[in-house]
Amino acid sequence: MKIKSICCIGAGYVGGPTMSIIAQKNPHVKVTVVDLNSERISNWNNKDLSKLPIYEPGLSQIVFESRGRNLFFSTDIDRAIDESEMIFISVNTPTKTYGSGKGMASDLKYVELCARQIAKVSKSDKIVVEKSTLPVKTAEAIQNILENNTNGVKFQILSNPEFLAEGTAMRNLEVPDRVLIGGDMSTKEGQEAVKALVNIYLSWVPKNHILTTNLWSSELSKLVSNAFLAQRISSINSISELCESTGANIQEVSKAIGMDSRIGSKFLNASVGFGGSCFQKDILNLVYISKSLGLNEVANYWHQVILMNDHQRSRFTRLIIKTLYNTVSGKIISFLGWAFKKDTNDTRESSAIYIADLLIDEHAIVRVYDPKVTATQMQCDLNRLNSRSEKENEKYLIYRDNPYDALKGSHAVAIMTEWDDFKKYDWNEIYNNMEKPAFIFDGRNILNRDEIEKIGFVYKGIGL
Ligand code: UDX
Ligand code: UDX
Repeated sequence: MKIKSICCIGAGYVGGPTMSIIAQKNPHVKVTVVDLNSERISNWNNKDLSKLPIYEPGLSQIVFESRGRNLFFSTDIDRAIDESEMIFISVNTPTKTYGSGKGMASDLKYVELCARQIAKVSKSDKIVVEKSTLPVKTAEAIQNILENNTNGVKFQILSNPEFLAEGTAMRNLEVPDRVLIGGDMSTKEGQEAVKALVNIYLSWVPKNHILTTNLWSSELSKLVSNAFLAQRISSINSISELCESTGANIQEVSKAIGMDSRIGSKFLNASVGFGGSCFQKDILNLVYISKSLGLNEVANYWHQVILMNDHQRSRFTRLIIKTLYNTVSGKIISFLGWAFKKDTNDTRESSAIYIADLLIDEHAIVRVYDPKVTATQMQCDLNRLNSRSEKENEKYLIYRDNPYDALKGSHAVAIMTEWDDFKKYDWNEIYNNMEKPAFIFDGRNILNRDEIEKIGFVYKGIGL
């Protein structure tokens, strides 16, 4: 079966870039990306490509190439569903903030709504693809909803988890380590659906990089991949604390262990803690599933990865407070970076939010510059933690659109995101305009300690 029309529900960080590549590589397939959020859709359609709703290096060129040819962004969800043979579900699945599983389980409300909508409007057979990361066995629930709400239309459910990392999404999509497709391999229809999706990817991905599995293996592999990656960061962050107490140097340790080809060098940068929409949520899902199955040791083992991350954030905050003579009240702490990593404007679960919150608890003024994050976004992130009133937050969290303004007159700089530009700043000028002694807390170990200390700064990194 050759697919001629695809629809994707959810025009976010995953749906937008993924569909842009699929459209670029399959010019004869009509790809329509739909979203409830009309502002987001109108930004995707903006003539000015710098106004696309998400920032991702290389994305705008690809959108430019395909948009209006075979790539469309629309709010007409029903029509796009009805006209497509294959429907991707790429809506967000936040951690539940209420009821059973609160703080742990994924809220599948949006996914379920999508399934019901698909069932309601479909007049012909469809292949439904889970793109959102979902707890194991969600496909079963989607299948049930679809089968019990249709009049004779047949659905095949596939799982096709996304492995792109933000900031490098376009490269990850162009040359993926692997594409994973899970389906019901026990039926002929299931196998055909898998084949149809394999064919879409074969337009640019070599066959030996496309892996097909059963549905549950595919769903579980996504959670486990993220858990393993996050575990590496928590492991190296735990060692960073040990380094600080012993005089070992975390960068030397990372290099030394990473050169063991069995360990490998990636994801061993000690940091202020991992953020992003996936790591925490996916591990919590793994923990929740394990607990539900009565596997308490498994649950506790993985939960420790999150606890270590929380610890790294509060440890960094305590270091700032202690170094500034045990009081930050009324002092200005300037943050460089608010995004959860460089090259993205995404701030979900960014450590910067949590550290700002802890510092504001101590009445510090947190002044922030990030090359891609807006003031509104920062305030929203802080308000969402619900620690204090919005008015109070506005008093303590100050935005600047220029790094030199942000740093002027401040008592300390805290580097939260590893943006390349931060390394190129004129640190001499910054030093001259700061209160003395001038402190730098390098939460990403990106500056050259010797050069910075030579200027006169007191420098504190992670695990150094
Ligand atoms: C990602 C991944 O897809 C997912 O695996 C992970 O669980 C959460 O993060 P992402 O694309 O980054 O999702 O999320 P987001 O940028 O929030 O995009 C989701 C979009 O879906 C939003 O634009 C939202 O408006 C839209 N949406 C949500 C709908 O169109 N319909 C809904 O019912 C719910
Ligand atoms: C992650 C997975 O990498 C990706 O495969 C999956 O599809 C979605 O989740 P993402 O969250 O976009 O991607 O970014 P990632 O590059 O994994 O970084 C996550 C966090 O870990 C960031 O806050 C980053 O700064 C931090 N990190 C990463 C470290 O602290 N140290 C490292 O060595 C690497």
